Amino acid sequence: MSQTRKVRKAVFPVAGLGTRFLPATKAVPKEMLTVVDKPVIQYVVDEALDAGIEHLIFVTGRSKAVIEDYFDIQVELEQTLRQRNKTAELTLLESILPVAGSTSFTRQQEPLGLGHAVWCARELVGNEPFALLLPDMIMKAEKGCMKGMVELFEHSGANVIAVEECAPDQAHKYGIVGVGEKVGDGFAITKMVEKPVPGTAPSNFFINGRYILQPEIFPILANQERGAGNEIQLTDAMVKLAGDQKFAAYHFRGETYDCGAKDGFILANIAFALARADIRPSVEGPLKDLVAKLK
Ligand code: G1P
Repeated sequence: MSQTRKVRKAVFPVAGLGTRFLPATKAVPKEMLTVVDKPVIQYVVDEALDAGIEHLIFVTGRSKAVIEDYFDIQVELEQTLRQRNKTAELTLLESILPVAGSTSFTRQQEPLGLGHAVWCARELVGNEPFALLLPDMIMKAEKGCMKGMVELFEHSGANVIAVEECAPDQAHKYGIVGVGEKVGDGFAITKMVEKPVPGTAPSNFFINGRYILQPEIFPILANQERGAGNEIQLTDAMVKLAGDQKFAAYHFRGETYDCGAKDGFILANIAFALARADIRPSVEGPLKDLVAKLK
């Protein structure tokens, strides 16, 4: 097991259809919907880069080409900005451009589940530990979730999964872990269940969409049969890997917004807008008035 190697690569599964956001997602991938003024995917990529990730691997699908364009230069736009002396805008575009050669794109041809999407990245990841970030979930915290996970990975050598607590009646919506002894900032994982039947969850710690996994997950995924929702589930493959390797949970204590759901997406927009010094003054008052008028 290559446990002490640096986590250099991150996988972003972005092939999902985004049916919960129709009609918007008929022509725009859900990962490109904006939270304040940045697409959702930018928040997740920033979290990975902040954790020291050097290579970004996107598992895309048909009609997601705009994600690839977003992480490239836009020649006409930049020329026009230059002609108009729009220096601030140009600097902003430069600051989000990934280093040349640090992005890769592959396609998940059929929607067979998260486990299958991750497996599609196997050749691009190769034989080294990798980060996995589900782009629906965006996080707000002093220390980025993935940054804390990399520290726990380096300290423990275990596969690391970030978890948070949920209301017990929400556990059936997520992957849930069983709690073992303390490991660094987190704890050893004794059990993992994908979308447990209500009343059977081993705890209320749910998998929040951030993982650091060893490459031995790939041969398991190659043979993984379908599980919950008739999809190839990553959690089921992790259960098998846990027979041979350690898994630790990183207890993330910041705010998480599920931008794959309308309420989470709207709350993310409000929270990130209120955190911005240039926006808060003109939003806070009207927002309070709106809430006060609610009957
Ligand atoms: C996936 C994972 C699940 C995790 C969730 C977090 O489920 O399979 O374990 O808790 O993401 O968002 P999905 O949301 O794709 O159903």
